[in-house]
Formats: sequence, structure tokens, C-alpha cells
Amino acid sequence: MCGIIGYIGKDKALPRILNGLKFLEYRGYDSAGIAYVVNNKVEIKKEIGRISSLEKEINYDTETYMGIGHTRWATHGEPFKINSHPHQVGKFTVVHNGIIENYAKLKNKLENMNITFKSDTDTEVIPALLNYYYSKEKDILKTIKKTINDLEGSYALGIICDDDYENIYAVRFGSPLIIAKDKNGNFIASDVPAILAYTNKYILLNELEIAKVSKNNIEVYNKDLELVSYVEKIFEGSQESALLNGYDHYMLKEINEEDKVFLDTFNYYVQNGKFKNTMPDFKKYKNIHIVACGSAYYVGIIASSIIEELCNIPVYVEVASEYRYKKVFYDKDTLVIIISQSGETADSLAALRKSCADNIDTLAIVNVVASSIAREAKYVLYVKAGPEIAVATTKAFLAQITLLILLAIKLAKKDALLKEFIGLEKLIKKLLNQDYKDVALSIYKNSNVFFIGRGIDYGICLEGSLKLKETSYINSVAFQAGELKHGSISLIEVGTPVIGICTKKDMSKKTISNIKEVKSRGAYVIYITNDTVVDKFYDKLIILPDAHEIVMPILSVIPLQLIAYEVAKLRGCDIDKPRNLAKSVTVE
Ligand code: M6R
Repeated sequence: MCGIIGYIGKDKALPRILNGLKFLEYRGYDSAGIAYVVNNKVEIKKEIGRISSLEKEINYDTETYMGIGHTRWATHGEPFKINSHPHQVGKFTVVHNGIIENYAKLKNKLENMNITFKSDTDTEVIPALLNYYYSKEKDILKTIKKTINDLEGSYALGIICDDDYENIYAVRFGSPLIIAKDKNGNFIASDVPAILAYTNKYILLNELEIAKVSKNNIEVYNKDLELVSYVEKIFEGSQESALLNGYDHYMLKEINEEDKVFLDTFNYYVQNGKFKNTMPDFKKYKNIHIVACGSAYYVGIIASSIIEELCNIPVYVEVASEYRYKKVFYDKDTLVIIISQSGETADSLAALRKSCADNIDTLAIVNVVASSIAREAKYVLYVKAGPEIAVATTKAFLAQITLLILLAIKLAKKDALLKEFIGLEKLIKKLLNQDYKDVALSIYKNSNVFFIGRGIDYGICLEGSLKLKETSYINSVAFQAGELKHGSISLIEVGTPVIGICTKKDMSKKTISNIKEVKSRGAYVIYITNDTVVDKFYDKLIILPDAHEIVMPILSVIPLQLIAYEVAKLRGCDIDKPRNLAKSVTVE
């Protein structure tokens, strides 16, 4: 999982490539590299760490009008310079996003032909294969075709061949890639924000299509090397939506967009208290599987409670990395829902493909338009979160929750509940305007934090706990409130922070009893509720605006996101790019 970009045109290439890489850094930031053609030869520069380190080594004025760049999330081989992209073998220089699963076999085969390798990466077999086939074929397109025939796994590739400095070649399978048109030249890129400073016109490359991109032309070939036509798209959003806009961090900016994201998502599906035809009817399905990873999986857990309660149909929720390999029990009335912000998560995509292969109907709930999951599912419903840059998801989570509650209401034919969403954006805004620094100050020095809640609140606890640990590196666990006493309560010490959530008023007595159990063992209790609180069993209290139970998860997650943000800030963490992570996990 990495970001790739390439530019060829009349303008100097390095500012464009470096600028684009900065917008792809969310995809990985272990190292960065660039290859460009100057004085009729390819120069390569690589640095460990962020794009800013690479930038120091680059002279923007270099007379180069063609190049490819890469930002890496290390999979095969440590984040050393030698393992950084671009990789070059003979006449071929390559940047790669994805994983070559059969690289060991291919490497072995190539080594037996006396081809030597410099890195520990899976990627290096690609330029090695290209160089090998080119020595026989003497034709770049045929060479690429032969090479990709050998590859198993996923790839989006940017390729430069020393015999053709008039074109950059690109091909994809299982990893995203766009080709973009500028008035002075053309780009290849992993994602649209990388090119928005220059153009909003782009083409989505289909799987196994090969693009030949020159400064004023784009040709796309199918896998039989026949020229095919393509559709030019216009990106609707502004680059502003992918910029910081005065905020210190994307995470904070994105949380602060939640009132708008809620409204945009709601208004896309509902008008004047009625569902629009943008929301199809899924009533023929009698059982549902929800499959996703990370935060999207927690959306699934929350949605399953709501759908079961409201629609009276069973919902089975599973993480995608398990679902794809386990025996699952479907029938003709099963709908498999895949939830994914990026629409590119490898395990979620594999789970989707498994269901499609079994002829089961699939529905994708996705943020990134025309991403792989969106394109391959039978139905797709988009959340309207806009570009999410921070690695920790926030606004997309809130949009996914909103959409799944709407879906449950539609399924249950309980449209009267739609009125409970009216004005919710104002309550969201109210929560966004509250100050959570005080709570963060009481947590940030601890090494363990617990989150407890019941039912839907437990789902929100899971998300709050993940937000805290991924951004602040504090160990944190979420428990069903009634379960803690079955062992894990032994971890509670004097001062251990426990965040208790209760938005289900008929459960508040039970949850409060569980909170008292930890309080009496010395825990530092932060209680979050929309209920009236009469007793002082907490150290800090966060009162949520009161709304109908069905919309409460849209509200209750907000303080947890902001607490995680404030704690991470107090701890001086790299909030938008936490260590070891990447925004879209396109590896298994
Ligand atoms: O793009 P996806 O929604 O498929 O991503 C799934 C998870 O990788 C993602 O939600 C991850 O858990 C986030 N970093 C959480 O903030």
C-alpha cells in the first residue's frame, strides 16, 4: 500500500511530482523516491521517511519534463533506501503500489537466469521481468503484457523504459490508478487529490488495461493490446477539500466537517421527510452479512444491532480478513454489505469477490467514488464524506453510521423515524464546539484506558478505543459493560481511566452499576450520556444533546473522536500519520 504518481509534459516535472506525492503521503510514509529523465538518462533519488526528507534532495529547477514518484508503506523489506521505490533493472524503472504474492518464485526463476537483485522487495521482480521480456520482444506493450501475465497479487505500476522517453506506461490490477489530463501534460496517480492542483479531468484505468501516456496523448490498451476508448471524468470536489484550511491537522479539520458531512449524506438519500430514489429497496433480503475492517467493521457492529431491532432480520457481522477464508452460510435471500471508506481495502475487496463468486447479492457502502469495491459490488451506496486524508477515520465513520441507520429505516419501512434526523446537524455542531481538553488532560499520562458500554454504545466504545490507541499510542480496550467483571476488571487500578457510555436510557441503571464497580476499585470515571444523572459516581461528565435513540450513535462518537485528538496532541504524536499505519490497507 503506497502512493504512485507520474508526470510527462511541457512543464517541469519535479514540482508536479513532489506536490502530488504530498497528497498521496496518507497512503504510506516509510520512504519516498523519484525517477526522472534528465540529459537523456534516468536519475533516481530516494530518502527514508517523509516526502519532506526527499524534497531536501531535489532541485525543483532541474530541466526534466518526465518522471515517476512513490511514497512507500513497507511490506517486503525494511524501510531502507535500498528497498525504496523506484526500482530499476536494466532499461526499466518502476514504481509499484500493491503486493506481488508470487515474487519469491519469480525471483528464484530470474536468479537462475543470472539476474541479480539489490533489494528485499517483491517489487524488484517487476523491472527484472520487464527487462528480461523486452530483450526478447523489443516492444514495450508486449513486454508489459507478458510481465503482468506472470504476476500474482495486486499492482498499480508506473513504468519508464530507457528506449522511450516520450511515454510513461501504466497498468493496474487490484490497486487503484487514474490517468489525468492537464493542458500542458498528463499524469498517472493513485488518487485524485494528487493531481487536483493542476487538473480535475481524469480517466479511471480498468483492471489489466495498459496506458501509454505522452505529453499530449493518452492511449489505453486492453489485455489483448487493442486500443480501447475511455471516459473522461470530472472530479466534483475542490482541492480545498483536501487541504488543511487553517486547521493544525486533517483529523481535526475532518471532525469539524461532520455537521456538513451528516447533512450531505442525509440529503442525498432523503428529501422532505421521504426517501429519494437514490435509496433502493432491499426488502427482498431476509438476512444480511456485514463485512468490513477496522472502524468500518465497528460501523457494522452498530448497524447490526439497529437492523436486527428495527427490521427483525438476522445480521451476521465479520471482519473481512476472517470472512474471506471461512465457511459462511448464505442463502438466496442473503445480502452481503461491504463497508469501506476507501473502497480499496484488500481484505474487504476479497470478501466482496468471494460473495460475488458465490452469486450472492452485494451492496457496497463506500466513500471513494468509483473505487474497486464500489465498482465490483452489485449495488453501491455512497456516503458523502468527501476526501478523508487523516489516517484515523472520523467523518467517514459518522457518514457510514448515518447511511446505515437510513438503510435500516428503509428496510423496516419506518419512514416516520426520518423526522428524528431533522436538525441533527445543529446538535453535531454543538458537540464539535465543546472543549474536551480537560478530559484529555486527565487521560494522556496513563498507559491503559478502558471504554465500556452496552449494545450500540459498545460499538461506539470499540471505535473510541481504536481512535485513542491509533492516534495516541495509549493501550486501550473496549468492553461490553457487563463483561468486564469476568476477568479484565483485575486490570483496574487506582486512577485507571474508564470511559463509560450510555445512550440507551432503559439500560442506564445497568451500565451505571458496572461503572460503579470500577469506580469502587479506584478507576477515574468519565461518563458520557444523554440521560439525566442524579448520582455522582463519575469524575468527569459529558452530557450529550438529547435525541431519539436511533440517531444517538451519530452524536456519541464525536466526543470520543475529539478526546482521542486532544490526547494525541498532548502526547506530541504524529496525529495525521500515526506510526506503522496507512490510510488504505491494500495488502492482506
Ligand atoms: O478504507 P476502509 O474503510 O476499508 O478501511 C478500513 C480500516 O482500515 C480503517 O477503518 C482503519 O481501521 C482506520 N485507520 C481507523 O481509523
